[in-house]
Amino acid sequence: MTRFDPSGPLQGNLHPPPDKSVSHRAALIGAMAEGPTRITGYLDSADTRATLRAVSAVGAEVREGDADDHGGLFVEVEGVGLRGPRPAEIDVGNAGTLLRLMPGWLAGQAREEWVLDGDESIRRRPVDRIAEPLGRMGADVEARDGRLPPLRVRGSLLRGIDYEMPVASAQVKSCVLLAGLLADGTTTVTEPFWTRDHTERLLAAAGADIRRDGARITVAPTERLEAGDVPVPGDFSSAAFFLTGALIVQDSEVSLREVGINRARIGLLSILSRMGVEMGGAHESDRAVSIEEIREPGPEPIARLNVRAATLRGVEVTAEDVPAAIDELPLVALLGSFAEGETVVSGAAELRAKESDRIAGIVEGLSALGAEIEARPDGFAVRGTGALRGGTIEARGDHRLAMVGAIAGLASREGVEVEDFESVEVSYPGFERDLRSLLG
Ligand code: S3P
Repeated sequence: MTRFDPSGPLQGNLHPPPDKSVSHRAALIGAMAEGPTRITGYLDSADTRATLRAVSAVGAEVREGDADDHGGLFVEVEGVGLRGPRPAEIDVGNAGTLLRLMPGWLAGQAREEWVLDGDESIRRRPVDRIAEPLGRMGADVEARDGRLPPLRVRGSLLRGIDYEMPVASAQVKSCVLLAGLLADGTTTVTEPFWTRDHTERLLAAAGADIRRDGARITVAPTERLEAGDVPVPGDFSSAAFFLTGALIVQDSEVSLREVGINRARIGLLSILSRMGVEMGGAHESDRAVSIEEIREPGPEPIARLNVRAATLRGVEVTAEDVPAAIDELPLVALLGSFAEGETVVSGAAELRAKESDRIAGIVEGLSALGAEIEARPDGFAVRGTGALRGGTIEARGDHRLAMVGAIAGLASREGVEVEDFESVEVSYPGFERDLRSLLG
């Protein structure tokens, strides 16, 4: 149990940890490539360490260098090539992204067999969403009860497909695109809404023939990948906790450096702007949120985000907003309880298939802190009261719920105890230290 007391303003500046999604992909695509891939600023967390172990298990050589001054690791991956992974049993731990992406690569091998399994929570997370399109490509994959891990993958000849995704999922899209690299003929994925495109950007930078045309992404079979140098941006989803804290704790003013601003990740900013938060660019630091120093040092754009406390009004969030803000929706619930009026999130049933059932987790969690929030089948509704009492919140083994609890504590009247706070290890082991550094 870790306690977060009501605090004074959040102040100062911070470099959030490296992006989890990009770190997983950089290591995986590095393993699929020929020659060395040098990843700067690799996320040092339980989830992304599972990916380093997974690529080692299939034969890639992983050399770890020193951490940079904000905790990002230097990692060099000597790949085995697209057709070179050796058979293995892979422990994905708690990492859903690893569980969903890696089978795409393995399914198209000429032979051999892999089994992917993980912790108790991963064993409740659906894999039929990848088994189904992989099966259409001719893959031989077998899940427990047809939909849960462990997942057995036997290499087989694949054919390209034209796949219309029923759910907007970057993990499913990435899995099918990776399989497409090894298939016979081109593979096209159509997404209902734009989801994070880190896989496409990294594959293009590694020499794959991959193109987007509106909602359709097409990849051609590829002989070899060479990934070279991959800088990892700061994780917007981690930065979002401080952004939220700064908005709801009076007189706060923080600056978040080198944060990834891939447009499929920053949906929270457009939700905030509809909540009445004024946004601006460089030299508009009078705005509650301003974005400056935009750069593109690698395949991903980054920027500095300056944030100060603001008044908020309720907002309606619908299915089309969801993919670009999927991991930030628990924060929208917290922001909503500090807003004036009602905040309603719909079209977000996917939240029930995350590290925990995040609809139940956030609704029960914030209710226990005094929020007026109710669950809906595909989201939640929260009536803003402008304040939060405090109490005890259960993280349910879910890193993002643990961090929401901490931020809620700072902004609450009586403080918040977070049960199972250790779950932050999954994506952000240094979270508590970083948060306290902004409290002076
Ligand atoms: C991720 C995609 C999202 C997101 C998850 C990471 C990724 O999941 O929630 O934290 O790295 O591709 P879905 O693809 O299931 O929506």
